[in-house]
Amino acid sequence: MRDALVLLTVLAAVAVGLWAWRRWHHQSFWLVVGYPIIALSVLASWRRVALGCGLTKKRQRFWFTTVPGMVASTGVVRVKRRFQRIAVDTKPFMWLPLPTRHGWRVTLHTLEGQTPGDYADAAERLAHSWGVHAIRASSPRPGRVVLMATMRDPLVKVDHLPASTDLLKVTVGRLENGKPWTIDFRTVPHWLNAGATQSGKSNLANALIVGLSPQPVALVGFDLKGGVEFTPYGPRLSALATSRAETVTLLDDLVGLMVDRMGLCRQAGARNIWQLPPGIRPTPIVVLVDELAELYLMADKSEKDEIAKTSTALLRVAQLGRAFGIYLFCCGQRIGSDLGPGVTALRAQCSGRICHRVNDPETATMTLGDLDPAALVSARAIPAETPGVAIVAGQDGQWYRARSFYVTEQAAEHAARTYADLAPAWDEITSHLPESINA
Ligand SMILES: Nc1ncnc2c1ncn2[C@@H]1O[C@H](COP(=O)(O)OP(=O)(O)OP(=O)(O)O)[C@@H](O)[C@H]1O
Ligand SMILES: [Mg+2]
Repeated sequence: MRDALVLLTVLAAVAVGLWAWRRWHHQSFWLVVGYPIIALSVLASWRRVALGCGLTKKRQRFWFTTVPGMVASTGVVRVKRRFQRIAVDTKPFMWLPLPTRHGWRVTLHTLEGQTPGDYADAAERLAHSWGVHAIRASSPRPGRVVLMATMRDPLVKVDHLPASTDLLKVTVGRLENGKPWTIDFRTVPHWLNAGATQSGKSNLANALIVGLSPQPVALVGFDLKGGVEFTPYGPRLSALATSRAETVTLLDDLVGLMVDRMGLCRQAGARNIWQLPPGIRPTPIVVLVDELAELYLMADKSEKDEIAKTSTALLRVAQLGRAFGIYLFCCGQRIGSDLGPGVTALRAQCSGRICHRVNDPETATMTLGDLDPAALVSARAIPAETPGVAIVAGQDGQWYRARSFYVTEQAAEHAARTYADLAPAWDEITSHLPESINA
């Protein structure tokens, strides 16, 4: 009785100790206790899981089999052995799972006839079989597939990271793999940022305002929600259009500016503004658009011409802007072809894609386009409880789940006021080319 009591006390102390270790230093607990147990159970269950998820192949094997023999005169059963062809399920070869920050990853050798797509299709089934939050499949080289498992959603809470110091590059959040989520306009010049209402689009625009405000760039806003979103950031904006008429004028200015910059580059023998000497290089401009659809929606026929002009000008900015330092960041709830051919053409020019939670599968398809179908499934699975979570495509051609840092309107307003003196006046930007070139 006393021994049992001592044993129970020891067990309880160990359990409490493990619980406290896990609670206070999760990383070391995971490496020393969690990971080895999970790695062994993944290896042990792989045959069963691969079979259940349809990742095995039937292969012909020769085996020595016993066939029933005859009863000898001694009464002993004489067993015959012979070679026989038998079909067996072969599982893909699995290396030892390795620990990662949020789970583990393992490399597999694909079986003949299999593609990485087969593993991506089975990802959800694999995640359920192993009881993890998600499995992502990628292929580092032909014949190999890496499965990346995350134990629980790392995007439930994201901590801020230090701001980027590079020009036109902003760290706006974190990717699912723990790396920073950066928007780098010099690598990917134009972006589409889609999502249902309250999905986190404006929060991301706020993060950009905070990140770009201290940089030597001009910010321009198009806000056809009557200016309610961008007016508070007015001190740092060089120009803001809040009505259709203002939109047409501002886009005309931008196209004119682009033509000027084109001339400047031609004269200097440069292909883009970045090849110009710093002394005569014009200021880069980031154009933020809130509610793209508003630019294309027609209340009555009288607006038709204005919309056609807007659409053409925006498309020209998208087509030529990259070389001449004009970058687009377009937010919208819907970015569908029902808004007209202008939107489809604009979408084709925007290689940076961000898809927040969406209401309809069509918007996800429109935004993420021809990306891996698993990205669409993932976009549609974003819950309303985690605004700011998005599927992001860009820089390296891959897609990621990511979450923006929470940036309040107040923080963005504060940044806009603090760096107001860095906002070049619009007249100054549009009026003249640098003197040295005119000379
Ligand atoms: N990354 C985030 N982390 C935490 N909360 C967030 C995040 N992004 C957004 N939110 C919350 O979600 C709310 C809605 O976000 P936001 O205003 O950016 O949505 P929206 O997509 O712009 O909506 P709308 O289309 O109505 O303008 C915000 O007020 C904020 O509280
Ligand atoms: Mg918004």
